[in-house]
Amino acid sequence: MEKPLVILGAGGQVGRQLAHQAALQDRPVHAFNRTEADITAAEAVAQAIDGAGFVVNCAAYTAVDKAETEQEAAYRINAEAPALIAGLCGEHDIPFLHISTDYVFGQSLGRPWREDDPVDPPNVYGLSKQAGEAGVRAANPRHLILRTAWVYDSEGSNFVRTMLRLGATRDELRVVGDQHGGPTAAEDIALAILAMIDAASKPDFSQWGTYHFTGAPATTWYDFAAAIFEGHATPKLTRIATSDYPTPAARPAYSVLDCRKIETVFGIAQPDWRVSLAKVLEACAIDRSA
Ligand SMILES: NC(=O)c1ccc[n+]([C@@H]2O[C@H](COP(=O)([O-])OP(=O)(O)OC[C@H]3O[C@@H](n4cnc5c(N)ncnc54)[C@H](OP(=O)(O)O)[C@@H]3O)[C@@H](O)[C@H]2O)c1
Repeated sequence: MEKPLVILGAGGQVGRQLAHQAALQDRPVHAFNRTEADITAAEAVAQAIDGAGFVVNCAAYTAVDKAETEQEAAYRINAEAPALIAGLCGEHDIPFLHISTDYVFGQSLGRPWREDDPVDPPNVYGLSKQAGEAGVRAANPRHLILRTAWVYDSEGSNFVRTMLRLGATRDELRVVGDQHGGPTAAEDIALAILAMIDAASKPDFSQWGTYHFTGAPATTWYDFAAAIFEGHATPKLTRIATSDYPTPAARPAYSVLDCRKIETVFGIAQPDWRVSLAKVLEACAIDRSA
């Protein structure tokens, strides 16, 4: 019998979608949310991964601004726990996929970031995720690290849902127009992960390492917001600069990821975020009318 895919952090945006898409594809899945398996607890992780064919960690401390004052929690969840999971997987010869972020990159090189470009995180969240990547690489050679960005879904805490919520009650929204990135639907990440797992489960697979995956084309938060409200009664959108919207954590001005490697190795193309957004907005509309 096929060994199950074990999903840690199954209560988050990506984890939920991964469990859902895997079930739709009739794969054996053991999905654990935070209450069922806390990734900082070795005993709970060891029990959860027992008998797994592949382990995916979707759990993370994702509150980017709060991380500036909660460094210890951010490092425990984003740095120490992924190394712990990778180590336990290594001990049992289980391949491991971990998710990381575009926020490991800092000052722009003037082109999309490649997997082997130097990292230089601009904030505590990015630093903790970078430390997590390093811990995974050191603990288990059979790892895949998938860096993604600007994740959105019809559930959870994300930019799309924040815009819809604010747009329902405000006449004007001021949105940062000078940060560039690639919005990525949680469903698209889930499907990419399942395709990577299929390829990496073949006995002759050797392309372990780090990959980038985001939606295309690159855009700004302002243009993403404009697409969210397109064709609807919209609040007035005003493009502002990062300096007009100070946040506790600094954000990279340009965190567009070069996603050619994942296409070359796995045949996974960048999804058009505008197509995925339409699906997510439809699901949000259904949710809101329910
Ligand atoms: N969101 C983004 O825009 C974005 C961008 C780039 C990369 N990423 C990366 O993508 C991955 C998935 O992110 P996401 O957007 O799905 O995040 P999310 O919606 O915030 O989900 C994270 C999940 O992890 C859980 N979690 C936190 N601490 C845990 C622990 N100790 N044990 C078990 N579960 C724990 C959270 O549970 P609680 O809710 O109960 O705390 C939550 O369900 C993460 O690695 C993240 O760093 C995200």
